[in-house]
Amino acid sequence: MSINIAILGYGTVASGLPIMINQQKKQMTQFVGEEIKISKVLVRQKNTFNENAAEQFGFTLVDNIDSIVNDPTIQIVVELMGRIDPAKSYLMKILRAKKHLVTANKDLIALHGQELEKCAKENNVGLYYEAAVAGGIPILRTLASAYASDHITKLLGILNGTSNFMLTKMFEENWSYDQALSKAQELGYAESDPTNDVEGIDAAYKLAILCQFAFGMRIPFNEISHQGIPSITKEDVSVARQLGYVIKLVGHIEEGNNGLEAEVVPTFISVKHPLASVDDVMNAIFIESDGIGNAMYYGAGAGQMPTATSVLSDIMTIAKQVHNHLPVDHFNRLDQTIVSGIESQTEVKKQYYFAFETPDLSGQFMKIASWFKVEGISFEQILQEKGTNQLARVVIITHEMSKKQVEQLKKHINENEDIQLLNVFNVIEA
Ligand code: HSE
Repeated sequence: MSINIAILGYGTVASGLPIMINQQKKQMTQFVGEEIKISKVLVRQKNTFNENAAEQFGFTLVDNIDSIVNDPTIQIVVELMGRIDPAKSYLMKILRAKKHLVTANKDLIALHGQELEKCAKENNVGLYYEAAVAGGIPILRTLASAYASDHITKLLGILNGTSNFMLTKMFEENWSYDQALSKAQELGYAESDPTNDVEGIDAAYKLAILCQFAFGMRIPFNEISHQGIPSITKEDVSVARQLGYVIKLVGHIEEGNNGLEAEVVPTFISVKHPLASVDDVMNAIFIESDGIGNAMYYGAGAGQMPTATSVLSDIMTIAKQVHNHLPVDHFNRLDQTIVSGIESQTEVKKQYYFAFETPDLSGQFMKIASWFKVEGISFEQILQEKGTNQLARVVIITHEMSKKQVEQLKKHINENEDIQLLNVFNVIEA
């Protein structure tokens, strides 16, 4: 007896699955109660790589989704193709055929998860996607189980390995953004079109999913604001260093009086904060909650074996329930209320970093200070540096202020002609 699975796609992560299943067969069979067997793999084209694997591991290569959908011996399907099309239509077919589904597709879950989950519930099948967030870190099941009795108030995540690698190089080696991007592309971390990684879109997909597991709320993806790393300059890095911070791209969800605020934004993090030591391609999620308190979950955010291991743990969780003839649990057991208009409802307060460029003349700093005074915002740290061409850089780290106040300040700044706002980032103290 065995539980048969099919895989859609045979790229880096998928090709790690048969290796892991072979290596861990005894332990996995003990956990599930019977063997897990890869029966079919859907590929766009046969080639030497997938044909050799099919022979070595004893599965059949197919090029038509229907040969999986219509195969009654296949109970679990694993989608590792990525992107939206044709993955979404394939997954709907599979769920309607009452097969359990495991996917690592964060884009699809963040954008269309609600529709897929509805379809899974209607057909009484499981839809699991641990590997969609932070690759090898078992964060979604931790949130769904270990935090079931807790109340989370804040979640901070370094969720994109490529941008974290680049920022680490910009900080430690003093590289420019362009140098760091070339290296990330050379090492195969960033794709030739690196938009999703460097603009915070990949991290925002993951944040949308985390929001559902940590807060039981589904925020429309387009309401999670994301600001990327291309605007970070050597000057920002140098100021961060002088003032005792590192710069990271952070996904931030925080509970305010009237709801949640969720965003992905470059962030000055105090070197004393645990997230400051998360370097290179590593990921981490830092959670503040009433019960557990502060906790950080750290590990590989991508890569063949870490991601394949997460996928396998989903397969095994489903397979065990199938073996025991139990209905498969929903992956996320929290009620997922849809909330929209989040940012206008909340009064979350954070510290901010403002960098200005101004003519190096008397009275200019007074002008900047007056905008902050009008909005009732006080300063924690101020730094002025001589720039080029009679210009000066003024950097201000504020005390806590709301997003609304940031918007008000930007209005004052836009009304003046000679002072330029270069960057606004979040600040996290230890
Ligand atoms: N491109 C992602 C990253 C990995 O760099 O973290 C997959 O989510």
